[in-house]
Amino acid sequence: MAVASGNGVKTAQNTDESEIVLSVHEVTVAIEDKLILDKLSLDIKRGEILGFVGASGAGKSVLLRTILGLMPKQSGTIRLFGVDVDKASEMERLRIDMRLGVLFQHGALFSALTVLENVQVPMREYLDLPKKLMDELAMLKVELVGLPPDAAQKFPSELSGGMIKRAALARALALDPDIVFLDEPTSGLDPISAAEFDELVVKLRDTMDLTVYMVTHDLDTLFTACDHVAVLGKKRVLVEGTIDDMLKSEEPWVKSYFRGKRARQLDLAARA
Ligand SMILES: Nc1ncnc2c1ncn2[C@@H]1O[C@H](COP(=O)(O)OP(=O)(O)OP(=O)(O)O)[C@@H](O)[C@H]1O
Ligand SMILES: [Mg+2]
Repeated sequence: MAVASGNGVKTAQNTDESEIVLSVHEVTVAIEDKLILDKLSLDIKRGEILGFVGASGAGKSVLLRTILGLMPKQSGTIRLFGVDVDKASEMERLRIDMRLGVLFQHGALFSALTVLENVQVPMREYLDLPKKLMDELAMLKVELVGLPPDAAQKFPSELSGGMIKRAALARALALDPDIVFLDEPTSGLDPISAAEFDELVVKLRDTMDLTVYMVTHDLDTLFTACDHVAVLGKKRVLVEGTIDDMLKSEEPWVKSYFRGKRARQLDLAARA
């Protein structure tokens, strides 16, 4: 399968079943009798950067919380690394959780902790390491996301929006996960900082063999960083494919999103 990436065209080496990191099959979620997701299915392959889009309130964050086991589903199956999470033993679930990194839409960082301490939160939760080693490992993550070393001792209130997103990404990467879930990581950033963040995500995918599930409203991100796009609409995945597939889609919401007024210039730029 040839998939477009920010760095040109990349060929996935293996597309067999074992390469599917996350498989969501016919998942239904209702909150207080209100149906949010209706038999939604979605797969993500290893090494892929998936852009997950959809109207505000469509249920993107609900799906993410359901995948992470933070919200109950009414029916359907979620498999992570081939394991049905409903059938996983406590130990299996723990092992799965350690392979996931998350950057939540709103809960960026703990304000009373420094950046270094924030990055260490997942380490303290899952690992039993001496403080010195934890400091060294957390410092490596701080550097990995492109923050200056002195940012490590700062509190979130002392950082810019872009630095906070990077610090939150460092925390998501704390345990060297196989897949990271990013819920609107570039929202609120200026276009240059957002583009830098996208570049960082692509670089991490390329160097760390990471799989990325990214909820985003950012068209630039979808065009430059994502291999695959899935559109949430009518409580399920309405359309999925490459950006080219999105540009060809006649589905009204997809058409106005990708080929509407705001999209036109991006389309031209992408084709230049
Ligand atoms: N904890 C909750 N209790 C009640 N309703 C909720 C809860 N969380 C989400 N919802 C509802 O579920 C629907 C989907 O919300 P969700 O946050 O998943 O949207 P979204 O697609 O992430 O939107 P956005 O792009 O604005 O972040 C909305 O109608 C929302 O009001
Ligand atoms: Mg959301």
